[in-house]
Amino acid sequence: MQRHLITSAIPYINGIKHLGNLIGSQLPADLYARYQRARGNEVLFLCATDEHGTPAELAAAKAGKPVAEYCTEMHAVQAEIAKGFGLSFDHFGRSSSPQNHALTQHFAGRLADANLIHEVSEQQVYSNADGRYLPDRYIEGTCPNCGYDKARGDQCENCTKQLDPVDLIEPRSAISGSTDLEVRNTKHLYLRQSALKGDLDAWINSKTDWPVLTTSIAKKWLHDGDGLQDRGITRDLDWGIPVRRGDAEWPGMEGKVFYVWFDAPIEYIACAGEWADANGHADWERWWRTDKGAGDVRYTQFMGKDNVPFHTLSFPATLLGSGEPWKMVDHLKSFNYLNYDGGQFSTSQGRGVFMDQALAILPADYWRWWLLSNCPETSDSEFTWELFQQGVNKDLADVLGNFVSRVTKFCRSKFGETVPAGAAYGPREQALIEDLDARVARYVAMMEAMEVRKSAQELRAIWVAGNEYLQSCAPWTTIKEDPEAAAMQIRMGLNLIALYGTLSSPFIPDASAKMLMAMGVEDAQWPSDMAQALTQLSPDHPFTVPDNLFTKITSEDTEKWKEQFSGTRD
Ligand code: 2FM
Ligand code: ZN
Repeated sequence: MQRHLITSAIPYINGIKHLGNLIGSQLPADLYARYQRARGNEVLFLCATDEHGTPAELAAAKAGKPVAEYCTEMHAVQAEIAKGFGLSFDHFGRSSSPQNHALTQHFAGRLADANLIHEVSEQQVYSNADGRYLPDRYIEGTCPNCGYDKARGDQCENCTKQLDPVDLIEPRSAISGSTDLEVRNTKHLYLRQSALKGDLDAWINSKTDWPVLTTSIAKKWLHDGDGLQDRGITRDLDWGIPVRRGDAEWPGMEGKVFYVWFDAPIEYIACAGEWADANGHADWERWWRTDKGAGDVRYTQFMGKDNVPFHTLSFPATLLGSGEPWKMVDHLKSFNYLNYDGGQFSTSQGRGVFMDQALAILPADYWRWWLLSNCPETSDSEFTWELFQQGVNKDLADVLGNFVSRVTKFCRSKFGETVPAGAAYGPREQALIEDLDARVARYVAMMEAMEVRKSAQELRAIWVAGNEYLQSCAPWTTIKEDPEAAAMQIRMGLNLIALYGTLSSPFIPDASAKMLMAMGVEDAQWPSDMAQALTQLSPDHPFTVPDNLFTKITSEDTEKWKEQFSGTRD
């Protein structure tokens, strides 16, 4: 049995995520986790909410709630929606957990002991009216380059010039609009990533099987320009993990917190601790410490391409720099972006379809199938309502749903609700078995390689093979001259449904469970041999006719949804 540690990038707490976020990490991670479990492997699949940073504070302020309360509520909302999509996390944690506080402070202490942290004195804008320091993007003013009056402290959106807040003419707080701002000196901690450049380079070079999308991003940050830069890991904010050196105070750092990108990936580890505490397990370290049993764990991370630098450089720098034997990622699967109807999905602009809205109009399997089979793997991909309708209707309704319906209803009307006996399998069935042996082997190879689109194509081809078989043997005609042969063909059809229930479960878990339940299969085993798999339902085995697995999407539906989702959500 293999052991798989799987993490999905942890979504920000500030609002419900859109379908682009979902397909960029959580959904493909779930596909892989479900597949590995179905293969009988031991899996620990973790995700959490990313709860710190200015966006969380501002979202809470907008909602008129204390930030801790806002985060607790939004965590529950996100957890419920994740459940609705069938995301099978072993634990959905929180980066604000006590476990993450302790671990983040522990790492900071270890890094400081290894002389990998230094203090830097900086100037930062303080807003007297807001009673807080303002990060660059929360300072607005007039661009000195083009005169645009809503330029942000980090960049002018109009002329794209990179700015420093002190460059802005008539700067004001983007939070309150106040112009009562002053520049203050403040001290921050920097992680000396540059000192770890050699170690990181060697580690990345050892990852010869990583996708080019991943390694090219890491290499760019390591070698372009002046090379890997040291990174500020603290902020002047109220909300976050207080800066401490392990268990001890950090003189000069009172009132400051760690930067959200420092503590977020540490939550991958802390989340295992949360899982252990919540489940009465005491042994989470066997997943994370190579000196405590994690030596044989295979660790896979899933994320959008914008997250790659943090996972290939910053987080590994934290782990390597600690000098402790933490499990490092073995495979990092990254994704491009899914676009929405000719533009971008956008949380800040409320553009696109959000996870709660998607579930309100269709069950999870429809979304899971379309998003996974069209995921932005080798390039960005596009969601349009027409493409969604076509994919769902063709693959799920016409091919899979129709097959299940035809076989079970025909059997019930001609032979009753048990698997009919009939003749032995003949040459046509042998040919199907051989064909499926090859196809399932290809499907498995693609799933192992996390080739999501190609896996979906192989699975679809496996469904199509069943349809073609049924079409070519036509039991509804055969039955007139040779009822024994027709009974055998339907026996094969029912066995195919049981096979599909098992093979499809990582993609469409609800429909798969319905297929297996209808076929009376309680303990589905991943098939290794098609001759065996396609005889698992013996004559007289009872089955039921399931309700229609999928309803077709009509053009009226798509027109309505297009209209409904053309604007922005508040
Ligand atoms: O991009 C995002 O949604 C981040 N919240 C991902 C963090 S992943 C990791 F570092 F925990
Ligand atoms: Zn400008």
